[in-house]
Amino acid sequence: MKKLVFSGIQPSGIVHIGNYLGALRGWVALQETHECLYSIVDLHAITVAQRPDELRAQIRQTAALCLAVGVDPARSILFAQSDVSEHAELAWILNCHTYMGELRRMTQFKDKAGKDQEGSSVGLFDYPILMASDILLYGTHAVPVGDDQRQHLELTREIARRFNNLYGDIFVVPEAIVPKAGARVMGLDDPSKKMSKSAASAANYIALSDCDEAIRKKIKAAVTDSGHDIVYDEAHKPALANLLTIYSLTVSKTIKELEVQYQGQGYAGFKQGLGGALCDFIRPIRERLEDWAARRDDLERILQEGAERARALARPRLQTIKDKLGLGVRNTEKV
Ligand code: TYM
Repeated sequence: MKKLVFSGIQPSGIVHIGNYLGALRGWVALQETHECLYSIVDLHAITVAQRPDELRAQIRQTAALCLAVGVDPARSILFAQSDVSEHAELAWILNCHTYMGELRRMTQFKDKAGKDQEGSSVGLFDYPILMASDILLYGTHAVPVGDDQRQHLELTREIARRFNNLYGDIFVVPEAIVPKAGARVMGLDDPSKKMSKSAASAANYIALSDCDEAIRKKIKAAVTDSGHDIVYDEAHKPALANLLTIYSLTVSKTIKELEVQYQGQGYAGFKQGLGGALCDFIRPIRERLEDWAARRDDLERILQEGAERARALARPRLQTIKDKLGLGVRNTEKV
């Protein structure tokens, strides 16, 4: 039997090149060897304020983006998280087996809440437990994610082990699949921070929906380091190292090959090449995205069918977990 993969993406409506290189590229590749569930995690999205009309449109747009990069609904299960209520129910059960101190240590919460931890939602604090629930609910073996999700995966594994010690073997302890290169793509306008869809400026990221002109402009404006040689040096030239990583992964050339190709050409020549390469890489994705985005009925049908398939897997697993915990009146001893 094929091993199971689960991963999720928030429905911001924007998918940037960091999401793609860190996670979605792996989602697509794993379809060849694994049974895959991919979720648009709308319950995670409401940990911060959302506008209802925009949220629903963004769920569809994010699904269209997943399909445009190559998630195949004939092979994988693509669904919106809130359509499978077992995720939220298991999250409650996991809440009761996780310590406040464990959640307080989560760096993503500290980053997102900033100085106003008291003013942030309980949901934002609890975000990693819902994520653990997403993963553990299905008996997931592998979780393709970017580097920023490692800590959440570690907590998920800890909760799974804790549960298994208390109630017997219930959960598979999942592995994170973090790519060797591209796991942490940095912001174009600030290479000291990861590329992020919630960045203050759209100059921070290249979105898979960006047009050629926007891509070229953003690459031209991207921060570079002092000097002008095209050499990979993460410690002294972090901005260039980031651009070289993006370039190498999108044209399937090694960084060495790119260094040789751009020897003596300076940053201007290098950026011109990178801008063109990114346009060529993103254009077909953007075209498929536009095609999917216009097929609203098909998108909704794919998500509904995905949710049905996910529910069929989730329901019996949650029932087993509840039985093990002695929840409800179902008397398994008499059955
Ligand atoms: P989200 O939507 O913030 O990110 C989606 C995926 O993109 C990766 N990523 C990056 N990779 C490289 N460089 C970057 N700059 C970059 N920014 C984001 C993230 O690591 C992620 O893999 N919490 C998850 C959503 C989620 C989930 C899950 C994932 C909810 N439940 C269960 C796996 C399993 C998240 O970060 O989404």
